[in-house]
Amino acid sequence: MRRLVAETSLEPRHLVLPMFVADGIAEPRPVSSMPGVVQHTRDSLRAAAAEAVTAGVGGLMLFGVPAEGDKDACGSVGTDADGILNVALADLAADLGDATVLMADTCLDEFTDHGHCGVLDDLGRVDNDATNARYADLAVVQASAGAHVVAPSGMMDGQVGVIRAALDDAGHADVAILAYAAKYASAFYGPFREAVGSSLTGDRRTYQQDPANFRESLREIDLDLAEGADLVMVKPAMSYLDVVRAAAELSNVPVAAYQVSGEYAMISAAAANGWIDRRAAALESLLSIRRAGADIVLSYWAAEACGWLQ
Ligand code: PBG
Repeated sequence: MRRLVAETSLEPRHLVLPMFVADGIAEPRPVSSMPGVVQHTRDSLRAAAAEAVTAGVGGLMLFGVPAEGDKDACGSVGTDADGILNVALADLAADLGDATVLMADTCLDEFTDHGHCGVLDDLGRVDNDATNARYADLAVVQASAGAHVVAPSGMMDGQVGVIRAALDDAGHADVAILAYAAKYASAFYGPFREAVGSSLTGDRRTYQQDPANFRESLREIDLDLAEGADLVMVKPAMSYLDVVRAAAELSNVPVAAYQVSGEYAMISAAAANGWIDRRAAALESLLSIRRAGADIVLSYWAAEACGWLQ
């Protein structure tokens, strides 16, 4: 009876697995604040990605971690076709073809020596329009490497429109844009900074949203839709389910929500202490994000959850 009348479903196809691939490591390197998550080598990434696809995930979201010495002020390694993210995208595109939706993080923070999501002006502030020009190049390189979806996560104004035009000009009209439309300046990104070896000191409050604001998200989503976003995302997920619900009502394209590193870490830590049932809590959290209205959920549990959902 419960199965017959359940209002919300959670299926493997709804889940996207974020993965990290690092340059210059010989073995996968565990991310200590995210038990079970690693920075992959190119080879271990290929194996884990194939496993996740076999498990049934709807997609993969790839983040690149360059060697420390390869970072610079404008994140050059991100637009280098031989940079770690781009070669790993090419690996997965060759291995997996159309068996999954291959997504790339289209941002500079992993590649810059100052750790900001954009390039800086003379006063050390993130320069919105100069950053958009870099995002356009990033998106084209990632599409050429084989990404089906580019995902600008830097919250620059106008980023979706600039990327759409650049992709179209370069002959990538069929590459889609997953816009991080409503992304908050959140403490829940803490473990991610370890996962990508972030160089950031300070915060991103000049370009990410204030957790106090709701209407601002509606405006951000409207703008991204008008600029041609194919999917819109809310991030983080669990503390922003009201925003997910509003996005689902407002958007005429699919809505994604990103269950971020800190959300994964909290449940993992409580479970490790025996204070919470890991599997039950993880599945409940994913279901709650679907219930709020997300069509797609990015989660570090994606592959494992596919096994639980068999
Ligand atoms: C920035 C980016 C971040 C995350 C995804 N893309 C970090 C940030 O904005 O500081 C966070 C993901 C997570 O915490 O799991 N390119």
